[in-house]
Amino acid sequence: MTDQRIILVTGASKGIGRAAALELAKAGNHIIATARSEKALVSLDDEIRNATGQSATLIPLDLRDTAAIDRLANALLERFGRLDGLMGNAGVLGTLGPLENISPASFTEALETNFTANWRLIRAVHPLLRMSEAGRALFVTSGVVPRPRAFWGIYAATKAALETMIACYADEIEKTPIRVNLFDPGAVRTEMRFKAMPGEDQLTLPTPAEVAATLPPYFSPEFTQHGLRFVFTKRLTA
Ligand SMILES: NC(=O)c1ccc[n+]([C@@H]2O[C@H](COP(=O)([O-])OP(=O)(O)OC[C@H]3O[C@@H](n4cnc5c(N)ncnc54)[C@H](OP(=O)(O)O)[C@@H]3O)[C@@H](O)[C@H]2O)c1
Repeated sequence: MTDQRIILVTGASKGIGRAAALELAKAGNHIIATARSEKALVSLDDEIRNATGQSATLIPLDLRDTAAIDRLANALLERFGRLDGLMGNAGVLGTLGPLENISPASFTEALETNFTANWRLIRAVHPLLRMSEAGRALFVTSGVVPRPRAFWGIYAATKAALETMIACYADEIEKTPIRVNLFDPGAVRTEMRFKAMPGEDQLTLPTPAEVAATLPPYFSPEFTQHGLRFVFTKRLTA
């Protein structure tokens, strides 16, 4: 058992999730880091140890393995007895292109990773968030939901489904101490963005670290906003 707040970050092996895990650790939280790449999680743990002197809990898993999500929740129950924060960040772009060209396998991967896994996470860890005095959850969405456009159909639809589910979840848990919100990071300098827009000058985009620096307040007990959709905007410097 620890006095630190315990925050689960999905997709912590790279990009926004990795930077978020590091930033949340620096803010004094104990991080449960998940992703498929165990090697990348170990490297994250090294960086967290160097920065904070504390280690993270690493749980390599494939979020498409829904039984593994249930096992994760059971492990958290046994080890910590609660969960104070959940950052539902893991996601895949899938295939960008005309709907008639998307393979069923690519569709299923995007749906299961971006939507189904987040439902299974809620189903599995909601009781743990209730055991916290101030459970906080933040789910990462995309600007393509309010601005749908050609060739982004599957990715956009999975994120739209996520947004609708989270709005319903927020309504369901209104009277509990849990607060849940959505976070739209905008375009960020990650592998996913490079895959989506290979011709773009990546140096014009905010880094994952810049985005992550804004995230710790969403997980603090003092943060009481609920059922909202927050958008990261890079602060312009003169
Ligand atoms: N970058 C942007 O411009 C942008 C814009 C809007 C929204 N977003 C959203 O921000 C979130 C993070 O994106 P990113 O740009 O940081 O992407 P990224 O660099 O590609 O990282 C994606 C993360 O998700 C994990 N992941 C993917 N499939 C998984 C699976 N089946 N099981 C477990 N983990 C899985 C990956 O870990 P492993 O590969 O090790 O499993 C990785 O840690 C996503 O939800 C994305 O949709 C990004």
